[in-house]
Amino acid sequence: MLKLNVNVSRSYDITITKGFSGLSAAAEKFCGGKIALITDENVDKLFSDDVLNELKGFEVVKFVIEAGEKSKNGENFLSLVNGLAEHGFQRRDAVFALGGGVVGDLAGFTASAYMRGITLVAVPTSLLAAVDSSVGGKTAIDLPAGKNLCGSFYQPFAVYINADCFRTLPQKEKKNGLGEVVKYALLDRRVTLESMLEGFDEQLVYDCLSVKRDVVQADEFEGGKRMILNLGHTVGHAVEKLADYTLSHGECVAKGLAAAIAVSKKLYGLSGSEVEKMRKVLTVCDFDLSLGFGADEISDCISRDKKSEGDEVNFVALKGIGEPRIEKIKIKELRKILSEYYGN
Ligand code: GLY
Repeated sequence: MLKLNVNVSRSYDITITKGFSGLSAAAEKFCGGKIALITDENVDKLFSDDVLNELKGFEVVKFVIEAGEKSKNGENFLSLVNGLAEHGFQRRDAVFALGGGVVGDLAGFTASAYMRGITLVAVPTSLLAAVDSSVGGKTAIDLPAGKNLCGSFYQPFAVYINADCFRTLPQKEKKNGLGEVVKYALLDRRVTLESMLEGFDEQLVYDCLSVKRDVVQADEFEGGKRMILNLGHTVGHAVEKLADYTLSHGECVAKGLAAAIAVSKKLYGLSGSEVEKMRKVLTVCDFDLSLGFGADEISDCISRDKKSEGDEVNFVALKGIGEPRIEKIKIKELRKILSEYYGN
């Protein structure tokens, strides 16, 4: 079992282990009464019985949402907070978020808003949620106008990661998580190509989260440094949107990382061997690194993104592995570099 403490507006532990056997201890520690177990229909079939077995002795009310991004909506949010109220949940009670990023974001936002905040325990079951969204306190639902437009910073009281869950992930979902893992390997030398090749064990999750923990501790509310976690996401998000969310987030982040390396080469005049070292990190998985869209489409999409400021964007570039820099660059300059590199 590995443990990591995150010390921000709330101090909490991340436990990375095998099995769910520590969950009852988390419940004892943080919950004075009832537990709302929020999950989706896929995860429910796989893991709810094991979790409920661990939580024997607690009064658990299970809420199951449909799987998929479309569930991260206002209607489900209202139905969850109403459900908590109908079951008489009080401030000393807890929400356990059992699932991937969608469940984590929706259940996290529910816990943050109900009675202005009740206990939240994150139990991520996907590699993507374990190494990214379950830690750091970002919660959200989508609005018709865009993804994650309504949310809050609300840190969990504990994060409990059962690394056994990743054994059951289909290849597409593994790739989805690996996009973010590879991002950490470019941001910080603590995550190495060798450790990635060894598989999704507890140590790899620990290494990724050590990087995220340090960044979030330095800048909890994304006023500056936390933006480095957006490495690969400027172009990655644009491709994700242009492909109408038919490609996974991780696959798009991998494409965005390849683009970030190309932009960094141009910005800093990096040597061929430095660029090669960075590109090698991306070979850990058979990612398709082509963009699939032209530089014009990508840059138009970036200019409409909420993270753009006028005709500029905060772009995370790399001076080398482990040396991220936030650069304000003109979107038309970005378009030119992408067009030269990808030839369109
Ligand atoms: N997923 C990026 C962040 O938590 O800031």
